[in-house]
Amino acid sequence: MKKKILVSRQYPKAGIRLLEKENFHLTMWEKQRPMTPVELIEQAKTHHALLCTLTDRIDKDFFNQCAHLEIISQFAVGYDNIDIIQATHLGIPVGFTPDAMSEATADIAFGLMIAVARKMFFLHKTIINGQWGYFNPTGNLGVEIKNKTLGIFGLGRIGVKMAQRCKNAYDMDIIYHNQTRNKAAEKLLDATYVEFDDLLAQSDVLSVHCALTPKTKEIFNGPGFIKMKPSAIFINTARGPIHQEKDLTQAILSGDIWGAGLDVTNPEPMQPDNPLLSMENVCILPHVGSGTMEARNQMSVLAAMNIIEFYKNGKVPHIVNPKVLGS
Ligand code: GLV
Repeated sequence: MKKKILVSRQYPKAGIRLLEKENFHLTMWEKQRPMTPVELIEQAKTHHALLCTLTDRIDKDFFNQCAHLEIISQFAVGYDNIDIIQATHLGIPVGFTPDAMSEATADIAFGLMIAVARKMFFLHKTIINGQWGYFNPTGNLGVEIKNKTLGIFGLGRIGVKMAQRCKNAYDMDIIYHNQTRNKAAEKLLDATYVEFDDLLAQSDVLSVHCALTPKTKEIFNGPGFIKMKPSAIFINTARGPIHQEKDLTQAILSGDIWGAGLDVTNPEPMQPDNPLLSMENVCILPHVGSGTMEARNQMSVLAAMNIIEFYKNGKVPHIVNPKVLGS
């Protein structure tokens, strides 16, 4: 029998073609918006496998009605939209797409860091608003990054790429905090492991690259921002709920930190009247970290291969919960 695969969004063709070449029956959700949780459950009920992404809610309600799924393949490196404990309990392997977007996301973190330091998005808006006056020797001043200290929260695949960029371009000192030490990266980057409070206190730029978990949820909040340098730049390209957004707004307003660059917000999407959008030292992007043609194509290939290999060989090359396959 042909396996029926529900494809929850319009993913890049590279991966879809791979699935089409195999003996699968694909159902594509053609609308631009994601399915609502109810639509997703209704559709998934009649399929064997699901290709999904971070905007699809795969929670307890979903699993109550879709426990029959044979594999879930997530088009993303993060999978906080999926109840992994429940999937594992039901024996459903969950694939994901690590590494494919590490360069692209590190570029966005690095770009945001410079954009905030030089108030780029704000200055762009002044031109649109007809406020480009005369050259001002003391106006619109930013700060330089060279030789400063970069703090990485979550020195993994993407954090390492960000640190490499900062080291090569600006000879920054690298400090980091992780759940477990990354000795290989310490050697590669001459990075120093520090406690969380020291990361807050010592970073000139603090860049977030961890997963969103109950432990990291809103870990960057009011009491933490107060411990940071008033000149510090906070960058988050991981997941919005890792920072407390009202506290972040307040921290910038009251000068506890210099500014912020966000590719992820809490909540998403950010509303256009959010006060952060009109601050000089804040640059915000609409969750586009992995948004290069190269990264998205590769993500679609990895997501497709997770399904193909599972049905061919019983293996999922990039799997979140390997114990369901006995490995
Ligand atoms: C994007 O946010 C991802 O997790 O891949």
